[in-house]
Amino acid sequence: MSNDGFNPNTGDIYHPSPETVAAAHIKDYEAVYQKAVDDPLAFWAERAETLSWYQKWDKVLDDSDAPFYKWFVGGKTNIVLNALDRHQTTGRRNKLAIIWEGEDGEKRTLSYWRLSQEVCKFANVLRSMGVQKGDTVTIYMGRTPEVVIAMLACAKIGAVHSVIYGGFSEQAIADRIDDAKSRVLVCSDGAWLRGKIVPLKENVDKALERSPMVEHVIVVRRTGHEINMEQGRDYWYHDLMSLPVASNKARTEVMDAEDPLFILYTSGTTGKPKGILHTHGGYQVYTSTTLEWVFDIKDEDRYWCAADPGWITGHSYIVYAPLILGATSIIYEGAPTYPYPNRWWKIVEEYGVTILYTAPTAIRGLMRFGDAWPNRHDLSTLRLLGSVGEPINPEAWKWYHRVIGKERCPIMDTWWQTETGGFMITPLPSVALKPGSATRPFPGIVVDVVDEEGNTCAPNEDGKLVIKTPWPGMLRTVYGDPERYKAQYWSAYKEQGWYLAGDSARRDEDGYIWVIGRIDDVIKVSGYRLGTAEIESALVSYKDVAEAAVIGVPDELRGNVIHAYCILVSGATPDDALIKALKEHVRHEVGPIAVPTSIEFVDKLPKTRSGKIMRRVLKAQAQGLPVGDLSTLED
Ligand code: PRX
Repeated sequence: MSNDGFNPNTGDIYHPSPETVAAAHIKDYEAVYQKAVDDPLAFWAERAETLSWYQKWDKVLDDSDAPFYKWFVGGKTNIVLNALDRHQTTGRRNKLAIIWEGEDGEKRTLSYWRLSQEVCKFANVLRSMGVQKGDTVTIYMGRTPEVVIAMLACAKIGAVHSVIYGGFSEQAIADRIDDAKSRVLVCSDGAWLRGKIVPLKENVDKALERSPMVEHVIVVRRTGHEINMEQGRDYWYHDLMSLPVASNKARTEVMDAEDPLFILYTSGTTGKPKGILHTHGGYQVYTSTTLEWVFDIKDEDRYWCAADPGWITGHSYIVYAPLILGATSIIYEGAPTYPYPNRWWKIVEEYGVTILYTAPTAIRGLMRFGDAWPNRHDLSTLRLLGSVGEPINPEAWKWYHRVIGKERCPIMDTWWQTETGGFMITPLPSVALKPGSATRPFPGIVVDVVDEEGNTCAPNEDGKLVIKTPWPGMLRTVYGDPERYKAQYWSAYKEQGWYLAGDSARRDEDGYIWVIGRIDDVIKVSGYRLGTAEIESALVSYKDVAEAAVIGVPDELRGNVIHAYCILVSGATPDDALIKALKEHVRHEVGPIAVPTSIEFVDKLPKTRSGKIMRRVLKAQAQGLPVGDLSTLED
């Protein structure tokens, strides 16, 4: 849901209670922000000191080859040293790391000790399959503890994980495996979603027909339905974990701070998805600092990030940061409204959740069912709420604040991206809130809203969001494509050396940032980031389609929905049957989240003289808005 057209000057300001400020890690945002601006390297070094390192860094930041920044150069560490190993010799070993609840009611808990043992076992399994430091392992699973175990086991042995969200299918999986060059894939047989099985292993089988690179598939049994197991290629996770080789002791690989930790594919402006690369050292410092300060993590918290581990929110704030901080996290399988719209509120009550972090689309979806569902449950343990993925419309913000947070719980509206690794523009619990604004930059982060030339925009004027200085959690490159990294993020303001976020925004008189939405060909559907290119190429791979263009159209519930325009090959019949077939085709190729809500058959698409589709024109037309400057239109 775009912030466009929303007037920030409504006067709605929510001040934190004195108790909230007194209890917060950071009580004075301005002072800490200033300290970080005055000496950013000292600031980040101080944060890094709170973690364990095998060997301390020689240099906090090496910017000699910008924009290929290096952080904590010379430092030796492993994120697993901080997320698991260091807790094993303290009282934390007995603390719950994960509380898991399946959609079918199955429940499991893992202490830090137990989680570490499982990770060691699986690390040994991977090693016995020949996986070595620097190899990539693809993970495609539902939301079960095994996805966390698999990610940590990779990190432990220095392998680079590439997690593919379970909502993607055949071609999307094949493309990501090929790009990452994975020989080993970890998946589950299926996942439960709204009472049905998501056929993950079937999707893998079909993807592997297109991508023969994978030699070994490890399958976690979750749903227990009948699946194909290919002799010599596919192995059951539980069989491997009971072999003698799967001992519960494993060495944690000593990594350079700048060694890769994971690749996470995300959509960009053009072409195939980009493998965003993050590293062990800077990422652990950045994610743990941001989580600790923004969600104010304390030992007694029960923290619930209701995202999926397959997206960056899950990587940073379900898996790595909470474990580094020794927090207890809730992970659930399923959907917010199944079997009833009180699933979440039941979880909050049953586990005594203190912090809930989710997306505006989920809040809007739950809001539709009214106040009675949450009101039936005791939500009094909650103390902080969070939002991420797209601008939150003030109406949803206020409902979340009033009905879920009982007007006690501040809402942390966190703006960030796969590329940034962690929160960038976000409140801290001690900061005054304005519904719909992500408020101010995190300490150490320098942002601006600028025009084409790089001049700072006047208050409340639309501009481009840029980040002016490097930060430890930043992406290091696009996997295998450094040129794309430079072109995509660092070319718009090359002289100034600023990072282009790809969002438009405004800053109001108080310095509060209002993110409006993407300025490129990325569409946010229910907070999921999708690229027009991937959906269009799926459409044109269908025999009847000659050309296609997709756009995002604003939608009350999902933020945006996808609308597709198709030019057919001669002889094809533009009827409802074809629309149905095309939707089915996109579902198979890219995944259910990418299916267009509407498909329109056209004879022509507006293009520039160089042949680029002018989506801006299509978008304006679809919404009945003025189409703007058409001077570059070819025809
Ligand atoms: O457009 C912004 C939007 O999500 C984009 C990043 O998407 P992704 O890499 O999938 O990461 C999402 C989770 C971190 C941004 O460029 N976005 C994310 N959070 C917000 C947001 N827009 C407005 N407000 C937010 N809090």
